[in-house]
Amino acid sequence: MDSTILWETDILWIVKVGSFVHMKKILNVISSTRGAASYSIQLAEALIDSLRVAYPGSTVKTVNLAEKHFPHLEESHIAGFFTPPEQQTSEHKEVLRHSDEAIQDVLEADVLVIGAPMYNFSISSALKAWVDHIVRKGVTFNYSEKGVEGLVKGKKVYVVESSGGVYSDGPRKGMDFVEPYMRTVLGFIGLTDVTMLRVEGTAVPGVKEQAMERALAEMRV
Ligand SMILES: Cc1cc2nc3c(=O)[nH]c(=O)nc-3n(C[C@H](O)[C@H](O)[C@H](O)COP(=O)(O)O)c2cc1C
Repeated sequence: MDSTILWETDILWIVKVGSFVHMKKILNVISSTRGAASYSIQLAEALIDSLRVAYPGSTVKTVNLAEKHFPHLEESHIAGFFTPPEQQTSEHKEVLRHSDEAIQDVLEADVLVIGAPMYNFSISSALKAWVDHIVRKGVTFNYSEKGVEGLVKGKKVYVVESSGGVYSDGPRKGMDFVEPYMRTVLGFIGLTDVTMLRVEGTAVPGVKEQAMERALAEMRV
């Protein structure tokens, strides 16, 4: 056997395995109802493509909140959330199923990509319902003598915000409640490494035509 060829193959194999060491589990949370026409979905997909290039072998799990609805919190959910695991009945466990699944998705991911179209200056109710299921005392945050402690650590989050108007500058600056809300609630559960990506002005003639191009130009992984 030609030992040189074997050596080169070994090196290639090591490089390939080495690059997979950096592979990421990506959770793609969609909350736009607009499918392929959605700006937030398109920008999130471009971001995920870049992440796949940066981290070969990465895997993606998609949760589409426009298709899979998380229930608004009712009394039964709250009761389940605040009942210690050892005292939970089968009814509690059943009602906690959505929350358990959503939290497991978050905990399993290395990178979260959260699409957040602006609805009435904030996030959609579909995304808010999902958020309400992942913020859970004793599971994703806790209280200690030092105050609130977020329990979800060491993950990178990208929030992909789309909006009809322009909020990064100009007269609407200060009217965007998507970014401050998402940073606050994610930080509360320990997710503090948050990068915002914006595609804005999607309803403004003269701006919307270049909105995606500008967003892609500003995108950094
Ligand atoms: C119910 C609803 C409420 C909206 N509220 C706002 C708003 O408050 N401010 C804004 O700039 N755009 C608003 N828009 C426009 C969307 O943010 C814009 O169309 C965005 O591109 C939607 O994201 P998507 O393309 O990912 O679906 C609203 C759209 C809908 C359907």
